[in-house]
Amino acid sequence: MIYLDNAATSWPKPPEVAQAMTDFLQRAGGNPGRSGHTLSIEAGRTIYAVREQVATLFNAADPMRVLFTLNGTHALNLALRGLLRPGDRVVASAMEHNAVMRPLRQLEREGVSLEVAPCRRDGTLELGALERAVSPGTRLVVMLHASNVTGTIMPVAEAAAIAHRAGALFLLDAAQSAGALPLDMQALGVDLLAFTGHKSLLGPPGTGGLVLGAGVDVSELEPLYRGGTGSRSESEQQPSDLPDKYESGTPNGVGIAGLGAALDWIARRGLAAIRAHEEALTETLIDGLRALPGVSMHGTGDARMSTAVVSFAHESLTVSEIGLRLDEEHGILTRVGLHCAPAAHRTIGTFPSGTVRLAPGPFTTRDDVEAAVRSIAAVLRP
Ligand code: ALA
Repeated sequence: MIYLDNAATSWPKPPEVAQAMTDFLQRAGGNPGRSGHTLSIEAGRTIYAVREQVATLFNAADPMRVLFTLNGTHALNLALRGLLRPGDRVVASAMEHNAVMRPLRQLEREGVSLEVAPCRRDGTLELGALERAVSPGTRLVVMLHASNVTGTIMPVAEAAAIAHRAGALFLLDAAQSAGALPLDMQALGVDLLAFTGHKSLLGPPGTGGLVLGAGVDVSELEPLYRGGTGSRSESEQQPSDLPDKYESGTPNGVGIAGLGAALDWIARRGLAAIRAHEEALTETLIDGLRALPGVSMHGTGDARMSTAVVSFAHESLTVSEIGLRLDEEHGILTRVGLHCAPAAHRTIGTFPSGTVRLAPGPFTTRDDVEAAVRSIAAVLRP
């Protein structure tokens, strides 16, 4: 089997991830921040250590501004619903995933005004169009760092600067880039960064978070839900302390412990080495597919401008047929269709038929991607 669906979730995980999760259950099984006993304190320490790891990875100003969530979608909903009120104006790119578009379309029904800044057919953002879409009344600009459909990397620093010039906050959806690309939120000007733990960060599902930059006034960010935090138990009002304001209920300590082990693994291997490996694999895939008759590739066609994602379609076979035959006849696992991103597929001209998406990861080898290209050639052969 060759797993080329790392953009949906990374697999395999470093073995240390499962080990850390088992250890947490066996050794630190208390409820963090709730009770004063040894197991509760140990659980709290483990979770705090991962908060610090996340803050270090993204160069966040303060580990207490790392808010753990269930996944990237949860983090994005917290940011969007927490900040935007009826009458506010928000700008998004035309490549966004439904994790951004669905909350925004709902907010639109509730009186928020939404402007979509167009992108080119290769998924790249037109900065001039963004500049025209953002006006002095804009409250928020939200954008993905890299497309889950084409891998196209967005000009984050430039987009954040456009948002700031208009007095808006900048929210980055780092679902496809966290752990795959260097991401320094202070250098890039990111005010809010939403990440998932189970993709390139190599952690388990059920982990993710929203990181708040120093420029976010937390009195203006409403929590998505309220409840017990273990702190200020005398009050029936939600505390304003961080991270408690946004982390009611028992956290996913097991998952967060696994995420911590994954972050350790990434730090040992080095983000630059992971990026170089994935860029080389992406280039091999692009070169291999380019040579196949009847194939149309989508995205920039340049591995340096993309994460490890290659999307293609064929002039006569449907994407479902290609995906099914790759799986059943060749043991190659891909994701086909619209990838929960109809806006992106409309932008690149592949809506509603979609594409076949190949997404290698840190454990994919050159042999794997070469074998995948040979299998794709065999499936497409008339
Ligand atoms: N958003 C994920 C993907 O692109 C699940 O497959």
